[in-house]
Amino acid sequence: MSLPSQEPSQPVYYKGVKFDANHSPVAMEMAESFEVRDDDVFISAYLKSGTTWTQQIVSLVCADGDISEVCKIPIMQRTPWLETVDKMGTSEPVPKLLEKAPSPRLMKTHLPYYMLPQQAREGKGKIIYCARNVKDVVVSWHNMRRMVIIIPCGTWEENFKEFITPKEAYNGFWWDVIPEYWRHKDDGNMLFIKFEDMKQDLRGHVVKIANFLGKTLSDQRIDEVVANCTFSAMKENPSTNLSRNPRVQEAFSSKAEESGLEFIRKGEVGDWKNWFSQEENQTLEAIHKEKMAGLDLTFQFE
Ligand code: A3P
Repeated sequence: MSLPSQEPSQPVYYKGVKFDANHSPVAMEMAESFEVRDDDVFISAYLKSGTTWTQQIVSLVCADGDISEVCKIPIMQRTPWLETVDKMGTSEPVPKLLEKAPSPRLMKTHLPYYMLPQQAREGKGKIIYCARNVKDVVVSWHNMRRMVIIIPCGTWEENFKEFITPKEAYNGFWWDVIPEYWRHKDDGNMLFIKFEDMKQDLRGHVVKIANFLGKTLSDQRIDEVVANCTFSAMKENPSTNLSRNPRVQEAFSSKAEESGLEFIRKGEVGDWKNWFSQEENQTLEAIHKEKMAGLDLTFQFE
């Protein structure tokens, strides 16, 4: 497996948007014209918003056979990351690899809506979008930067400031990206879910996702999926907790050891209270109020 360099890498830019060096402009370009199949599933989320959690639910809901065996397959193999190059050996852009993959194809993406495959935006395949309250996203992203070698990390104050600055934010400005997805929430091929709602009712979300994907699961099967999607199960599982996965551990290694952090970290609603100063809270709330005005999209912050 070829891993990126063990130094922080410069961000990459695509269409004026900043992405961390895991992303590939070549793959992003291929993603836009990607040939979508009717049974494709795109699991989309802004950074640190419950992507892996949704990937785990979707892949287990779609799994035939022994769930405990499926659970051992690394999550990035079950649900490849669309806008990257393959890091499991071939170095090919993921959209290229997916051309040869059997259906149904499950894919993860952090792309803004307007960069999704055009055919998906036109209604082909299915999109499951998971959003999370922005304050916990900032904190989770800061901690991710503290543990992944390739992503440069500033102090908390610096990373916070970058996040709330439109041109400096990674993967687009949160207040542009999330409202755009929200405006498409009623498209026939879109399911919009929230991290905080999943925390409150995991089973209900497994059922909701299964229904959206047209899968009929027995109660016992749903219980099995739920048991493997709890925070503790995903933390214990090296296929979902990437910092415990020998195949990708190198990407975290020394930096993660120093910080004592893990990819599946805390999984809480309201952790931002341990990080935000009063002033930061006021600044972010002012942006949030202005940008979300007129949008019937609310989040639970604690
Ligand atoms: P924290 O850093 O707040 O703990 P993503 O997969 O989009 O990168 O999101 C990562 C965040 O989701 C992390 O948040 C991680 O701990 C949390 N997470 C992952 N699986 C979870 C689960 N089963 N239950 C609750 N949170 C989970």
